[in-house]
Amino acid sequence: MQAPLKTLNDGVVIPQIGLGTWKLTDDEAAAAVESALKAGYRHIDTAAIYKNEKGVGQAIRASGLPRDQVFVTTKQWLTDQGRKQARPALEASLDKLGLDHVDLYLIHWPCPRQGLFLEAWQQLIDFRSEGLVRSIGVSNFLPDHLDAIVDETGIAPAVNQVELHPTFVPEDVVAKCAELDVAIESWSPLGMSQDLNNPVIVEIAARLDATPAQVIIAWHLRHGHVALPKSKTPERIASNLAAAELQLRPEDVATLDRLNTGHRLGPDPAKLEPDTL
Ligand SMILES: NC(=O)c1ccc[n+]([C@@H]2O[C@H](COP(=O)([O-])OP(=O)(O)OC[C@H]3O[C@@H](n4cnc5c(N)ncnc54)[C@H](OP(=O)(O)O)[C@@H]3O)[C@@H](O)[C@H]2O)c1
Repeated sequence: MQAPLKTLNDGVVIPQIGLGTWKLTDDEAAAAVESALKAGYRHIDTAAIYKNEKGVGQAIRASGLPRDQVFVTTKQWLTDQGRKQARPALEASLDKLGLDHVDLYLIHWPCPRQGLFLEAWQQLIDFRSEGLVRSIGVSNFLPDHLDAIVDETGIAPAVNQVELHPTFVPEDVVAKCAELDVAIESWSPLGMSQDLNNPVIVEIAARLDATPAQVIIAWHLRHGHVALPKSKTPERIASNLAAAELQLRPEDVATLDRLNTGHRLGPDPAKLEPDTL
């Protein structure tokens, strides 16, 4: 089983389903990534702050897969958005992963009050020129943050990784990303498992002889988003990837679209700052 592929605005190709690894320790991440690569995943999402880049890298190397067959994303933490910190932070991530480059590097949160995300974006552009990262993007950026970096540099991020799942769709961010040709990566695509119990989703899943997680992941794919479901359970890891083969009817997609409550589970990107954590 393989995830569908999507071409980003810089020509880089990304598998549309990636394994999320938040909250996994190094050992748990290594086991989950091993299961995922065996099941056919070719895209892993980690971050410096997850403190599991070592485990992720170990499992990728142990798989024996050629480096260019696995798409690896990591993220720059909030306190590394400065001239001095940015390069050592990326070097530390590469060192832990045991890689000489990552496929995608993201500014983890904008932290607008800190006032460093424009500088951070410029540095990511430099890292890409140097070949340390193939593609660059952002995470948790709101429309005004996206406009600010594009106005300043003329370069749009390849992706914006944001909280997005059936009960929370940030419509303004989705519209701005469409306008700028920025791909959406959905974080907490299953609503941190809470959306799995939604009766509307459970009913569609029963009718299609699928799991609620597969219905939700298929919905992300139908919208053209990259989904990053996290699981440490081998059977779930495999069945989540099988969502690639699930066909949703247009009326099912429309029904799922009506579940948006506007209620986010994670922090508000306009307010998260190093001193609010
Ligand atoms: N950029 C950001 O700021 C940001 C923020 C949050 C998350 N993320 C990324 O997005 C990824 C996913 O988000 P998330 O981890 O918050 O939540 P999620 O993927 O929406 O949900 C994960 C939860 O769902 C469970 N689960 C997964 N597949 C299942 C299935 N088929 N049936 C039943 N339960 C299932 C998992 O349990 P088990 O593991 O026990 O199987 C886990 O408890 C993260 O891991 C991370 O890579 C990024």
